[in-house]
Amino acid sequence: MRGPLFEKTSFIKSVTTRVRKLGGGTFSRVLLVKYKDEDAVLKVGLYNDNFHQQMFNNEAHVLFNLDGAGGAPRLIMAAVNSPMILMTYVPHPTLRDVLLQRTLQSQSQALSMFRSMALAFAQVHELGYVHLDVKKDNILVDITSDFKVYLIDFGKSCSQGDRQGTSPKYNHHMLSIVSMAPQPRKDVSSMSVLMEETFNFLTTDSISDLDPNIFSLC
Ligand SMILES: Nc1ncnc2c1ncn2[C@@H]1O[C@H](COP(=O)(O)OP(=O)(O)O)[C@@H](O)[C@H]1O
Ligand SMILES: [Mg+2]
Repeated sequence: MRGPLFEKTSFIKSVTTRVRKLGGGTFSRVLLVKYKDEDAVLKVGLYNDNFHQQMFNNEAHVLFNLDGAGGAPRLIMAAVNSPMILMTYVPHPTLRDVLLQRTLQSQSQALSMFRSMALAFAQVHELGYVHLDVKKDNILVDITSDFKVYLIDFGKSCSQGDRQGTSPKYNHHMLSIVSMAPQPRKDVSSMSVLMEETFNFLTTDSISDLDPNIFSLC
């Protein structure tokens, strides 16, 4: 990978304080940390096999090449042979939070947000990448600035038209990814699903899959 690559030990030494956990799921933990007195985001993989290592290499590589396009965080550094990435902190809530907390209230605000989202995807696509994991948790929204969108989580992204691209060689655990050609239209159709859900939410109050705790009520 081109870009700032560090040995695991010097990588860990340069990250000073853990501030708080931001998120993470099956594969990773995402923490807000301090790096040179600034807020930064540390994404650490929970598994160190080849597959997950490649997924992290891929994300680091794409972030480096995007260099902030689409509002993406900038890569600060990545660790050699270890699933760890340090990137800039984007201090905004996710689209899921913005909807759940009802910060986005009107259709005109929603249209403004989707316009910004479309422009963000256009920037990413123009640089030859497809995001391939468009969902509410991977979109940050600046509610103080016309609902401007910042795209995050490029772990599954690929070069356009290249079935494997710079991403890991997907195996039987990820059949859905094997079977789709990474074209910009894939992101556009995922965005249209988000639009439909957002407008449904605004007009009917339907909770759809918005509340992750909904299953605990069943
Ligand atoms: N650069 C960032 N700035 C601010 N918050 C972030 C950043 N990266 C990730 N997050 C937060 O951490 C969560 C998980 O990060 P993500 O990269 O999506 O990990 P995963 O691959 O586990 O889904 C996001 O939904 C978001 O809330
Ligand atoms: Mg994510």
